[in-house]
Amino acid sequence: MAKILIATEKPFAKVAVDGIKEVAETAGLEVVLLEKYTEKAQLLAAVADVEAMIIRSDKIDNEVFDAAKNLKIVVRAGAGYDNVDLEAATAHGVVVMNTPGQNSNAVAELVFGMLVFAVRNFYNGKAGTELKGKKLGILAYGNVGRRVAHIAKGFDMDVYAYDAYCPAAAIESDGVKAVSSQDELFEQCEVVSLHIPATAETRQSINYALVGKMPKGGVLVNTARKEVINEPELLKLMQERTDLKYVTDIMPETDADFRMLGGRYFSTPKKMGAQTAEANINAGVAAAHQIAAFFKDGCTKYQVNK
Ligand code: 3PG
Repeated sequence: MAKILIATEKPFAKVAVDGIKEVAETAGLEVVLLEKYTEKAQLLAAVADVEAMIIRSDKIDNEVFDAAKNLKIVVRAGAGYDNVDLEAATAHGVVVMNTPGQNSNAVAELVFGMLVFAVRNFYNGKAGTELKGKKLGILAYGNVGRRVAHIAKGFDMDVYAYDAYCPAAAIESDGVKAVSSQDELFEQCEVVSLHIPATAETRQSINYALVGKMPKGGVLVNTARKEVINEPELLKLMQERTDLKYVTDIMPETDADFRMLGGRYFSTPKKMGAQTAEANINAGVAAAHQIAAFFKDGCTKYQVNK
């Protein structure tokens, strides 16, 4: 019986693990669990005899692939797969997949949780502002960006988006204003929400010049990746522009420096965007189904290292 290892440094809700087990067992697969591990050695030992893995933001590098002699497939239960070394996976003959869209709503809802918190001055008792009528810029119009746009309309926000890989017509057909560049998005919008993946092209791209284009009182919200932020430059800008706020679900390396800004910055202690029972069930169970279909029929839909 092939074994699926659920390796989650940040565990799924129990209902999601139960759901994964049900799908796996129906497909004749065995599930083993490694949760809240603290040492890489634990991961290396756990992968030794498994054929499949379900992971979250867990780092899967060449050393892990070397240790996982029987591994055929890794499914990242979530959207971003920058934590998996795709070249090493391919070199080891391992298929890597993600589960796009499955946790998008959870991330999108957190955007608004953090935004209300920010515009109400982090609940410090002083008069803040409302989101209604404000211009929201969505950078990258994928599954999360679309959900953010949908929810923003409920707040009566004026919604803009830019996506280098999505035609303006597709954005506009959702009743969202498409702008022609990233620069324009930051220039126009009082609130900008980041949904770009961490790639060679986007790393450090959110920098002094770009964020500096935001109108007075701008709020930047990051539920994407910390790697897309040029931290020293953002910090410098926020020291100079005392009107700007930054709220993030991915703690910066220089969290202590950002905290010194006093009341204009907030980071969750651990990435919480996809940390809901619903998102865990959706992404975890989808991952289990993808693994079952892979072993049954060789299905490679959602493979990201083709
Ligand atoms: C994703 O890429 O799906 C999100 O960032 C969620 O990541 P997580 O599973 O580590 O919470």
